[in-house]
Amino acid sequence: MDTFEEINVKGFADEFIDPSLDLFDEIEKLKKEKNAVILAHYYQEPDIQDIADYIGDSLGLSQQAAKTDADIIVFAGVHFMAETAKILSPSKKVLLPDIKAGCSLADSCPPHLFKKFKEQYPDHLVITYVNCTAELKAMSDIVCTSSNAVGIVESLPPEQNIIFGPDKNLGAYVAKKTGRDLVLWNGSCMVHEIFSREKITKLKERHPGAKLLAHPECEEVILQMADYIGSTTGILKYASKSPDNEFIVATEAGIIHQMEKAEPSKKFFPAPPNNNCACNDCPHMKRNTLEKLYLCLKNGYPEITVPQHIIEKAVVPIERMLEISARLGL
Ligand code: 13P
Ligand code: SF4
Repeated sequence: MDTFEEINVKGFADEFIDPSLDLFDEIEKLKKEKNAVILAHYYQEPDIQDIADYIGDSLGLSQQAAKTDADIIVFAGVHFMAETAKILSPSKKVLLPDIKAGCSLADSCPPHLFKKFKEQYPDHLVITYVNCTAELKAMSDIVCTSSNAVGIVESLPPEQNIIFGPDKNLGAYVAKKTGRDLVLWNGSCMVHEIFSREKITKLKERHPGAKLLAHPECEEVILQMADYIGSTTGILKYASKSPDNEFIVATEAGIIHQMEKAEPSKKFFPAPPNNNCACNDCPHMKRNTLEKLYLCLKNGYPEITVPQHIIEKAVVPIERMLEISARLGL
C-alpha cells in the first residue's frame, strides 16, 4: 500500500488492482461491510453513476448527505461538495476518490479577497453559491444552489441588499429573473464559459427541432438562446417531460448518460465548445474513476476534514438553504 506522503502528492490511493476483480462486485461488498453510501454528481463518469446509491444535483446531494445513516459517505464529486457533506454530517467519515478533484469556480473566489470585498458592503446579506470553499460558506448568510437560487433571493424582502458570489453568470441570471440589483463577485466556471454561440447556432441549423438546454452557469449570450435554463436535475426533468426528441445540452457532458438512460429514444448533443477540445468535460469531476472509488472505499482515504470552527459557522447558511428549500418545496 502507498504511504500517506505518496497519497498527498498524487491526491489519491494508487496501488495495484488485480485486473481479474470485478470492481462493481467489490464495491458492493465493501459498501455493505463498511455501511457506506455512494453519492455521485451527474458529471461523474458513467460507471460511477451506475454504481452510486444516489445521483443528483448539488441540492439533492446535500439533502442526501444531511439525512444518511451510513457511517461512511463516499462522495463522487468535487471537493466543495464533499466538504458540504462533512459540514452537514460531521460525525461521518467523508471520502473523496481523488482529493485533487477541485473546482475552477470555487478557486475563482479566494476567501481572503472575498472577506475584503464583503467589508465594502456592510449592510448587505451574503448569498453564496454552494460551489465555493467551506471558508467562504463560513462568511455567508445563506448558501444556494442553481436549483434554489432564484427562490432564495425571492424569499427575502425586496429592500434587502445582497452580495451574490462567486458565480457572476448565475448571479446575473438570478438578478434578471428576480429584478433585484445584486452585487456580484467576478467568478466563473471554466466548463460553462467555453460554449460557442456560433457553433451552437450551426448545430441548431442541422437539427432545427432541437431544444437548447442550458445551465445558469453559462454566459448570458448562451442563456439568451436557450429554450430552458436550469440546474442539472432541472435539465434532466425538462428533457424527459418535453414532447421534443432532440436536445443540445449546454452543461458538463456527463449528464447525457442519465438523459440517455431516461429517454433512450431521444437524441442529446453536447453543446460544442469554442475550440476543438473536449472542454465540456469538467477536468476536476473527471479526476474520479471507478478504480479510485474502489481504493478509497477499501483503504478509508483520501478523507475530507474541515476544521471545527469552520464547520460551526458554515453549517448555519447551509442549513438555512435546506430549510428555505423545504419550505418552498424546491
Ligand atoms: P448543479 O448540479 O447543482 O446544477 O450544479 C452544477 C455544477 O456545476 C456542479 O459543479
Ligand atoms: Fe466546478 Fe465547473 Fe467543474 Fe462544476 S463544472 S465542478 S462549477 S469547474
